[in-house]
Amino acid sequence: MESILTAKNVSKKFGKTVALDNVSFQMTEGLNMLLGPNGSGKTTFLRIACGLLRPDEGKVSIFGHDPFKEYSEIKDKVSFALQKPHLPQNITVKDFLEGVKTEKNARSYNSAVKAFGLEDILDKKFKNLSGGFKKRVSLAQAFIGKPDLLVVDEPFANLDIEAKLRISDMINKLSKRENTSLVMITHDLGSLKPDHLTILYAGKTILSDYYDELGFDEIKSFYVKKDDEKYVINNRESLHKNVKKGAKIIDVEKRGFEDYLKEKFEKEEIKR
Ligand SMILES: Nc1ncnc2c1ncn2[C@@H]1O[C@H](COP(=O)(O)OP(=O)(O)OP(=O)(O)O)[C@@H](O)[C@H]1O
Ligand SMILES: [Mg+2]
Repeated sequence: MESILTAKNVSKKFGKTVALDNVSFQMTEGLNMLLGPNGSGKTTFLRIACGLLRPDEGKVSIFGHDPFKEYSEIKDKVSFALQKPHLPQNITVKDFLEGVKTEKNARSYNSAVKAFGLEDILDKKFKNLSGGFKKRVSLAQAFIGKPDLLVVDEPFANLDIEAKLRISDMINKLSKRENTSLVMITHDLGSLKPDHLTILYAGKTILSDYYDELGFDEIKSFYVKKDDEKYVINNRESLHKNVKKGAKIIDVEKRGFEDYLKEKFEKEEIKR
């Protein structure tokens, strides 16, 4: 599969703060998720990917080009919606969005206005919008350009449930469309099931794999009790061993994605 975005040994420090520490991964077609807790380096990575920041070491490439040095090569193919949108303050939503509308993408303009629920605020100036609507406008402009790759940072931050659902749905549909890939940066997976998942933790890549390879649906947790102590056991072999030694199963649960993350982060915390 063609690689859309590659990070190779990328490091970035701000003074003494290590934001990214030798990060490497590859993202391919479809919905790619870059997940990590607050402060794990996600936005720093995005700023490098959109050419706003130069890494101290390593290389990011998008469709084979370095965004810092060769931005003009990718500018028509990629669009970004930043975590904190900085849009012109005194322009109306309509004028702003019409700026990215062309004959070719007129249909996506109309559907983005509808999908993001912007019909009633088209005549408002950006500075007078609430945080959630600023976010919606910023996402809408990124969607309108019909890019080959759309990178969105925390698309659900500041949004109400209805907008979250609409945007989840749009992200899902778009990622299934041929020739459109997405990188969604978030600390919260929500209801989306990505094709590929990369996890950053304290500036390091702790996982980068196809979601289906992770086999969440097959893994079960067994809650076991022995000598008044409770254990969680995640594989049958060790369950059998424990039962032989007198442990009792007190509950069984399908291991969800959030449990998986919690365990993974706890392990990283111990390592540090
Ligand atoms: N311009 C900057 N100057 C100094 N430190 C910075 C700067 N930008 C980011 N950092 C630091 O780098 C680390 C990573 O920050 P980053 O914004 O990339 O995290 P994040 O994963 O996007 O977090 P969040 O989920 O809160 O958006 C943090 O410790 C942050 O304080
Ligand atoms: Mg961030």
